[in-house]
Amino acid sequence: MTRRCPLVAGNWKMNGLLASLAEIAAMGGAYDSALRARLELVVCPPATLIGMASDLATQASIGLGGQDCHAAPSGAHTGDISAEMLKDLGARYVIVGHSERRAGHGETDAIVQAKASAALRAGLAPIICVGETRAEREAGDALRVVGEQIEASLPADSPDTIVVAYEPVWAIGTGLTPTVADVAQMHAFARERIEARLGGGKSAGVRILYGGSVKPANAGELMSVANVDGALVGGASLAAKDFMAIAEAYRVIG
Ligand code: 13P
Repeated sequence: MTRRCPLVAGNWKMNGLLASLAEIAAMGGAYDSALRARLELVVCPPATLIGMASDLATQASIGLGGQDCHAAPSGAHTGDISAEMLKDLGARYVIVGHSERRAGHGETDAIVQAKASAALRAGLAPIICVGETRAEREAGDALRVVGEQIEASLPADSPDTIVVAYEPVWAIGTGLTPTVADVAQMHAFARERIEARLGGGKSAGVRILYGGSVKPANAGELMSVANVDGALVGGASLAAKDFMAIAEAYRVIG
């Protein structure tokens, strides 16, 4: 069976000033060689900080990611940044299709797929986000919605280096999380749908992250669920102390 190296990624969202770079250095201090052997750590600061975070992250053995990219490599797109620009600054990942962008910027599955393709074109691994709303879960539609998002948001020719993040919209920033049974069901289902989309056994290598109110107190339980290959962490990734307490869960997970 393919061994998937767990990935814990921090999404800083629209948070972080120059002083926040100290958190990356502090994360590096706690990311010792035993932990480095057990999981990959990535931070996705706002675009304004990526350039200055680059050397710090390299020294700390922490990967860097963007939070979004445009589908085009360059051009007349005021305010946007391309996957190539992120790569140029040392990023290895880029989050695409976060629910805050789907909801706040009208991003459709087709747009998300084009951004994921752009990431791959530039040599970045896209972290493709999917997840149902509270109304969809309450209506019993969570699996269908996430299945359709996977089908329409993942480029069909993706390699197994892509990352999929299951982030139930109702769990983001609310302190609420799905039950362990619901996470297990969704992640097993997501892997089946990724296989249906990519074929060739590739889904076995794709890491599926859980995101939504991951905290030091619940990380061990959530990260131990079958088919959960790591976490996409929002609020608790801003302070090194909290983020590294989440990463610590992997010191004991087999
Ligand atoms: P929180 O961890 O703050 O709930 O955010 C999750 C998220 O949206 C990560 O992308």
